[in-house]
Amino acid sequence: MSVIAFVNQKGGCAKSTTAVHLAYWLFHKQLNVLLVDADAQRSSSIWLESLEAPIPCHVAQTSEELLKQLPKWADQHDMVIVDGPAGLSDATKSIVQLADLAIIPCQPTGVDLRSAADAVRLIRQAQADRAGEPLVAVFLSRAVKGTRLKDEAMGHLESLGIPILKTVIHQRQAIADTFGQTATVWELLGKAAVEAAEEFEQLFREIMALLPKE
Ligand SMILES: Nc1ncnc2c1ncn2[C@@H]1O[C@H](COP(=O)(O)OP(=O)(O)OP(=O)(O)O)[C@@H](O)[C@H]1O
Ligand SMILES: [Mg+2]
Repeated sequence: MSVIAFVNQKGGCAKSTTAVHLAYWLFHKQLNVLLVDADAQRSSSIWLESLEAPIPCHVAQTSEELLKQLPKWADQHDMVIVDGPAGLSDATKSIVQLADLAIIPCQPTGVDLRSAADAVRLIRQAQADRAGEPLVAVFLSRAVKGTRLKDEAMGHLESLGIPILKTVIHQRQAIADTFGQTATVWELLGKAAVEAAEEFEQLFREIMALLPKE
């Protein structure tokens, strides 16, 4: 019944990676989850189809398709995760018009922070049309541990004026390897994969806690 969308026009900020991992995490919590791949690159649907877990997935890339199908899919599932496209297209506008919660992954660079501000503006427009919906939050993605860039970025995120998730997802080879290994961090072996899985788990708990209780 809830639609959680990952949006940010900036490519490479980990929308698809986080969407696939959240869909996988919810599926293993026995939820009736659907991933909607709204990106023409189709990376999340290809990735999901490569996994052993039979997680349902639909591709919907145009604004028209999304407006028509998303409400129906939301009715049919406990949770719909939308992997948004790069760019602030009409598709992205439709996604934020229909989502219950929009999550913005943001890398710790100036360019990325500027893109996040554009995404926030788009979401604010939707909130003005929809009596405050969707809920929104940002998290720091692909941050390198112990760098000044990371510390400064946490400060800059505050200037966006939206809730910041406490969990930071760090840059890790184990996460970069998942797509190529047709896996998620939960299937990979090694300390780095375990640590990455712990970060995702913590992030997803924070995200779920934002949704209104039914
Ligand atoms: N925490 C991380 N550590 C290392 N690599 C990462 C991490 N998160 C994502 N990546 C890698 O960064 C690249 C971009 O990630 P992803 O495709 O999820 O971004 P995206 O926001 O969906 O990009 P696009 O807008 O192009 O669809 C991928 O190669 C992915 O494996
Ligand atoms: Mg993507």
